[in-house]
Amino acid sequence: MELEIQGIVGAEFLHVPVLSQEVISGLAIRPGGHYLDATVGGGGHSRLILQAATDVRLTAIDQDQDALLAAQKHLAEFGDRVEFVLGNFSSYQYTPHSFDGILADLGVSSYHLDRPERGFSFRHTANLDMRMNQGQSLTAADVINQWDEAELADIFFKFGEERLSRRIARRIVERRPFHTTTELAEAIASAVPRQYRYGRIHPATRVFQALRIVVNDELRSLATFLQQAPPSLVPGGRIAIISFHSLEDRPVKHDLRNSPLLQVLTKKPITANEAELAQNPRSRSAKLRIAQRL
Ligand SMILES: C[S@@+](CC[C@H](N)C(=O)[O-])C[C@H]1O[C@@H](n2cnc3c(N)ncnc32)[C@H](O)[C@@H]1O
Repeated sequence: MELEIQGIVGAEFLHVPVLSQEVISGLAIRPGGHYLDATVGGGGHSRLILQAATDVRLTAIDQDQDALLAAQKHLAEFGDRVEFVLGNFSSYQYTPHSFDGILADLGVSSYHLDRPERGFSFRHTANLDMRMNQGQSLTAADVINQWDEAELADIFFKFGEERLSRRIARRIVERRPFHTTTELAEAIASAVPRQYRYGRIHPATRVFQALRIVVNDELRSLATFLQQAPPSLVPGGRIAIISFHSLEDRPVKHDLRNSPLLQVLTKKPITANEAELAQNPRSRSAKLRIAQRL
């Protein structure tokens, strides 16, 4: 099923939806219901939501123009049952009691990582960009080349959970300006001890995560979404959130649990089963939490 979806989207916006069966059953899609996909991406989850029951309507948000275009193509057959919204899910005008279910599948898509020119990956040489919203001005190059050493060390530590944040920041400041992803990755690798350089993950992984979070203001958008979205559910409506690292999962867990409007349905987060793990490496770190409006 997932491979078919991948085929339909084609090479333009390749993204296999994670935990798809768990999302669909967790949202308990109702015939005639109105759902919000706050991160439509290539439209993989959205398609499954639209197919899960009769006459489902969907509002689909993405801040990335390419993603929204891909989703429009992928979901064209559903016609005016889908409304597309280009924008950040944190600035969407949520109407109280309007959705039977909400999904957010956080972070970047595999499309972003696989498109060298978007500058998310240190595996390809590209401009240091990392913007999901191509209309914003702040890029990763601005942060790396203009922020002072202490600020860089701080974000690498806070948003990358990078232990060697200070020495990496020092090396970056010594060697900047940087223009490309690979130049930056090499400088980071040169700043860390040998054993760290050949560890389980590339030494630039955490710094790239931190930059991405900062450039896209990801944690602030998530915090706003967690406050604004639940009142837009109808009573009994469900919210499902997939996160990919602890900096996202922590506020999701905390805010769902502490919302006076919600009852959490997942004591522990749902994670991918063996079959999905074997098929889709991206599912490895995915955690799904679901709550229901009282
Ligand atoms: C993991 S992908 C979603 C993939 C999608 N579920 C699918 O099946 O194809 C995340 C998408 O959310 C978008 N996104 C991330 N943060 C966002 C935000 N704050 N507001 C709107 N879109 C956002 C990204 O541009 C990306 O396309």
